[in-house]
Amino acid sequence: MKSILLSTASLALLAAASFEGNLNYHSPSRRHLGLGIDVKKVAKRSLVKRATPWDPAQLNFTHGVASGDPYPSSVILWTRIAPSLEHDRSNITVSGYVPFYSHETEKYIKASPNPICVEYRVATDRNLSSIVDKGTAYTTSDIDFTVKIEAKSLKPFRTYYYQFNVCGSNNKSPLGRTKTSPAENDAVSKVGLAVFSCSNYPSGYFNAYGNAARKDNVDFFVHLGDYLYETGRGTPGRDPRATAPRGEIFTLYDYRTRIGQYRTDPDLRLAHQNFAWIPTWDDHEVANNGYRDGFSGMNNTEASFLKFGRISVDSRKMNAVRSYFEWMPIRQVDLDDNLRIWRSFKMGKLFDLIMLDTRNYDRSITTLNWNNDYIEELKDDAGRSLMGSAQENWFYRSLSESKKRGATWRIIGNQIIFSRMNNSAVYSNPLNADQWDGYQSNRNRTLHHLYSNEIGNTAFLAGDSHANWVSDLVWLDETPYDQVTGAGAIGVEFAGTAVSSTGYGSGRSIANSSARSAGLVRDNRELQWAEGYYRGYYELHISPDELNARYYGSPSVATRNPFEVSLANFTVKSGENHLQRNVAGGRVESGALQRGSTVPTNLTLNTLSRTWNVTGFNQMFITYPAANSTSA
Ligand SMILES: *[C@@H]1O[C@H](CO)[C@@H](O)[C@H](O)[C@H]1NC(C)=O
Ligand SMILES: *[C@@H]1O[C@H](CO)[C@@H](O)[C@H](O)[C@H]1NC(C)=O
Ligand SMILES: *[C@@H]1O[C@H](CO)[C@@H](O)[C@H](O)[C@H]1NC(C)=O
Ligand SMILES: *[C@@H]1O[C@H](CO)[C@@H](O)[C@H](O)[C@H]1NC(C)=O
Ligand SMILES: *[C@@H]1O[C@H](CO)[C@@H](O)[C@H](O)[C@H]1NC(C)=O
Ligand SMILES: *[C@@H]1O[C@H](CO)[C@@H](O)[C@H](O)[C@H]1NC(C)=O
Ligand SMILES: *[C@@H]1O[C@H](CO)[C@@H](O)[C@H](O)[C@H]1NC(C)=O
Ligand SMILES: *[C@@H]1O[C@H](CO)[C@@H](O)[C@H](O)[C@H]1NC(C)=O
Ligand SMILES: *[C@@H]1O[C@H](CO)[C@@H](O)[C@H](O)[C@H]1NC(C)=O
Ligand SMILES: *[C@@H]1O[C@H](CO)[C@@H](O)[C@H](O)[C@H]1NC(C)=O
Ligand SMILES: *[C@@H]1O[C@H](CO)[C@@H](O)[C@H](O)[C@H]1NC(C)=O
Repeated sequence: MKSILLSTASLALLAAASFEGNLNYHSPSRRHLGLGIDVKKVAKRSLVKRATPWDPAQLNFTHGVASGDPYPSSVILWTRIAPSLEHDRSNITVSGYVPFYSHETEKYIKASPNPICVEYRVATDRNLSSIVDKGTAYTTSDIDFTVKIEAKSLKPFRTYYYQFNVCGSNNKSPLGRTKTSPAENDAVSKVGLAVFSCSNYPSGYFNAYGNAARKDNVDFFVHLGDYLYETGRGTPGRDPRATAPRGEIFTLYDYRTRIGQYRTDPDLRLAHQNFAWIPTWDDHEVANNGYRDGFSGMNNTEASFLKFGRISVDSRKMNAVRSYFEWMPIRQVDLDDNLRIWRSFKMGKLFDLIMLDTRNYDRSITTLNWNNDYIEELKDDAGRSLMGSAQENWFYRSLSESKKRGATWRIIGNQIIFSRMNNSAVYSNPLNADQWDGYQSNRNRTLHHLYSNEIGNTAFLAGDSHANWVSDLVWLDETPYDQVTGAGAIGVEFAGTAVSSTGYGSGRSIANSSARSAGLVRDNRELQWAEGYYRGYYELHISPDELNARYYGSPSVATRNPFEVSLANFTVKSGENHLQRNVAGGRVESGALQRGSTVPTNLTLNTLSRTWNVTGFNQMFITYPAANSTSA
């Protein structure tokens, strides 16, 4: 009897090791048991129940593979291995939970309590003959059958291939490809990023992801947030892009189901399978116009708690964050801080990529519709922050340390538009107080830090707005700025349009949309290019001498198609701290350019570039569909 007990205990220890290998068992917080998963109990439950083990043939790699957060010697690998496409129904919340498995009663187990075991291999070749790392990890319904491991012992800035299989079986995942980052002190000559934001599944097809992946022209994919949307739309069975679940999402089950649905999209899957991603979130990963204590559609009050089926703001945020970390191939750099996604990457001596969270971490109150007048009065308040003091201090320190270590560039992965923007030409509110314009003291502190420490070669990236905006980075009303030469600026801002969400040019003709862009450019002298018609993405090619930004548009997201249009190209020379003149070579395809011309191509199948070969498309796709509107 005694020896059986002993062996069970030692087995549990052994098993716990394989559980530990799956980083999602630590997520979202290892040190707060109430928020995390008690791995010892999961291990014990698995072993003592002696249920029929999983039949490998019963299991499926339901959502392909993914990788992300590259370091010089390691990268995160992800997959999901499950008995079905269905997600775990436990609705664990911060303040108490309705578990799939109850630690107290050891009841309510739907499937086999045994863990699913997967092996993974990482190699330098597609055939996986030169293995450099391998291992075993477990998963269970507790983490929605996701697997997230850290592949180690890798060499810097190298391509690797990886694959998972069910332990001891030939049931294999698709083959993934990934890449490590350059070593901190390497003099890398070139790194390419593809930059995305705002991919709303029911608004259209994810051609931007597919095109960038098939072109295979960059090293890493960066996502600036609104990777998914929380609202429900469409009728399942009738609308091919109807959301699952059908309505707005609140519970952990809901968020798991929604992110799982997004990952069934073939273009998104292709992009995850072939590139290491570096994403951060914006508001819609949780809910519209989020801030520290609420969202536009939900208050942090008892009335709200009762109205939304006893889901509080905090528990909703926790559900969203938990499923996000389960499903996204990224690191949690501080497990003691489960809301933290802000982090940075040293890309050799070439640049630092600083990923911010201006949204969910510790943001002061934003516009929630009912309070817009109040925010108008508050927006200059010195105490307002988009990031909270911990993150803000880290941000300024990161900028200084980046300069100190001699990195040539600082690239800031930020959600919302940084530059001051008079939007009168396209929106009823001249200033969008949900962007940095509503947090002017935070913006001034950032500009002050850059100017006073002479930190140059900085590029802000932004998404969120569903339109393209390219600006010189300037401290208006403080530093002289020459719009013609760019003198006085401290860097640049590259804001990109949505993958599929609708913007100010949607549902209009190209010319009509470009006329609106011209109004924006007229009213904002640091804004060099504005464009609102196309959905798409941009590539950022970074080298010691210059940055090149290439903007691409999808002629239509109403169908899944491989066509794209080159919209505009920009160069920033190292040390110049503004866009090179003539900006965009003086000519863009769409939108409006300061001191330049817009010359639209007559788009036909022959003039469009395409990233895969298809037949049967006709020109009707050139008219952008009047898609349903979505909030930013
Ligand atoms: C496995 O999952 C895919 C979706 O990713 C589905 O198309 C396929 O039918 C599933 N196979 C089995 C055997 O369940
Ligand atoms: C969790 O919430 C979903 C609705 O989102 C519900 O269908 C399910 O029954 C809930 N599960 C539990 C265990 O309460
Ligand atoms: C990989 O496998 C293919 C097909 O089996 C084979 O032709 C090729 O030579 C292999 N390459 C290496 C490097 O082993
Ligand atoms: C757009 O809205 C219309 C009318 O409400 C609806 O019939 C249609 O299904 C929606 N389309 C999409 C793609 O959601
Ligand atoms: C949140 O509170 C404000 C102010 O009391 C109210 O106007 C608004 O309707 C509330 N929102 C929700 C979703 O209950
Ligand atoms: C930001 O800086 C500008 C330029 O100096 C100044 O006019 C403005 O009042 C400042 N705003 C805040 C909130 O500090
Ligand atoms: C914004 O632009 C409009 C012109 O479209 C102008 O009337 C208005 O004064 C501008 N507002 C600010 C704050 O510059
Ligand atoms: C642009 O389109 C809008 C909406 O369809 C219409 O109201 C407006 O008159 C158009 N403007 C021009 C200049 O064509
Ligand atoms: C951008 O640059 C690419 C090649 O570098 C070129 O093919 C394309 O035409 C350019 N696009 C524009 C709008 O100038
Ligand atoms: C665009 O090309 C088509 C086909 O070549 C031609 O019929 C049409 O007149 C062209 N339109 C313009 C505005 O040049
Ligand atoms: C399209 O087909 C042509 C001819 O077969 C081939 O040369 C080309 O590489 C293909 N392009 C793509 C993107 O697959």
